[in-house]
Amino acid sequence: MALRCDLIIRDATIIDGTGGARTRGDVGVTGDRIVAVGDLGGASADREVLANGKVLAPGFIDAHTHDDRAVLCGPECMTCKMSQGVTTVVVGNCGISLSPIRFSPKTRPLPPLDLVFADGWARFPEFGDYAEELRRAPAPVNTYALIGHMTLRVEAMEGDTQREATDAEAAAMQARLRDALAQGASGFSTGLYYPPSKFAPTEEVIAVAEALRNAGGIYVTHMRDEGVGVLDSIEETLKIGRDTGSPVVISHHKCAMPENYGRSNETLPVLARNALTQRVAYDVYPYAAGSTVLMLHVLRDDVKVRITWSVPHPELAGRWLHEIAAEWGTDNKGAAERLLPAGAIYFQMDEADVQRILAHDLSMVGSDGIPHDAYPHPRLWGTFPRVLGHYARDLGLFSLETAVHKMTGRTAEVFGMVDRGVIRPGAYADLVLFDAAAIRDAADFENPTQPAEGILETWVNGQTAFVGGQGATEARAGRLVTRNRA
Ligand code: ZN
Ligand code: CU
Repeated sequence: MALRCDLIIRDATIIDGTGGARTRGDVGVTGDRIVAVGDLGGASADREVLANGKVLAPGFIDAHTHDDRAVLCGPECMTCKMSQGVTTVVVGNCGISLSPIRFSPKTRPLPPLDLVFADGWARFPEFGDYAEELRRAPAPVNTYALIGHMTLRVEAMEGDTQREATDAEAAAMQARLRDALAQGASGFSTGLYYPPSKFAPTEEVIAVAEALRNAGGIYVTHMRDEGVGVLDSIEETLKIGRDTGSPVVISHHKCAMPENYGRSNETLPVLARNALTQRVAYDVYPYAAGSTVLMLHVLRDDVKVRITWSVPHPELAGRWLHEIAAEWGTDNKGAAERLLPAGAIYFQMDEADVQRILAHDLSMVGSDGIPHDAYPHPRLWGTFPRVLGHYARDLGLFSLETAVHKMTGRTAEVFGMVDRGVIRPGAYADLVLFDAAAIRDAADFENPTQPAEGILETWVNGQTAFVGGQGATEARAGRLVTRNRA
């Protein structure tokens, strides 16, 4: 009997996400799964898409996001990602997650927790409540969730976070993490770089992360220092992984600040050597500028800064800090003080490091996009097409197959996303069809929310989530994806 599918994509250049060479053929989908790959000439489907040699790849996995709230805001909030071919986002990064948290009157979501919190959003006392919300009102993309150390700290320490946690507080955090992992969260993230969390010594992190051991969870970290102390921070990260028996992911690996330019020549061999004996990976975004909250102690004359939002001066989002300072007749610090609370883009990396880090075998692509900024870093709208277009096609940094692997199969393997990130019968039908010749990030630092070009269609669990030239559909086919759980 001839095979009958819901959807067949015919005559595609299939890049299957494993890193293997492209093949030409058809892909059949029924329900939420890929059912057949190859020559499906004898099969028929309710809908047939003629790809004419365009590339069909597994939907991209954004290894590093702050989309905890954005996934709950409907398709328009996730258009930035679906227009890049993203079908799964890892939320809860840099120590910041929207759950679990019970606020007492003393605890407020102070910066950088406001990266995901906003009025009315501190409403998931358990991770299970967040998971339930994703079931009740599904997101348009799949969500894979980490639990943030900062979130746990604010609750356990009742907002008094400018110090080391007591043993009892660390135990309370560990218990909250253990519960969240049992309710479908996949791991633990820290942001030891940030003022409220940097007071946590390694021992506190290990005490909390101990919950990962039995749950088989993953440890993900915005390290304590990405500048002069980057090697020490890598050692700290590796130790936390070893002491808790957990795989580790270093977030947005970089060598920040001019005096550290070129030092990926030191960090990458250390990571590669340790990868032989413990599970270690990292994500990276394809830009030589970072973005986070505006912090006075980070400002210096040789690092240009652009404002992404400001509470007292929303009209200055997008402006250069030094220009604002000149207009106000003050210096950068003086201007920054008047802009706080605010967000910023820091031009603090070396392009050669970015390319070396991106090209290395241990890398995965993650946007670190900040979805609620008034004038966001262009990585929010451009990361994946930029890797495929600018870095793979135009600069030839690696093959298209390798580029796709770093945003699909490798990421799914590191995070333990079962049956995702690959095109094969039985895998989930998270797919993206794109034009390899045309794909391009259109967002830049002048026009940061310009949708990428070259994505033709994005499918999430077999449903069309985005159509190039038209936009997001009404589909909300995303699921909660839990590590190593089918
Ligand atoms: Zn971070
Ligand atoms: Cu981040």
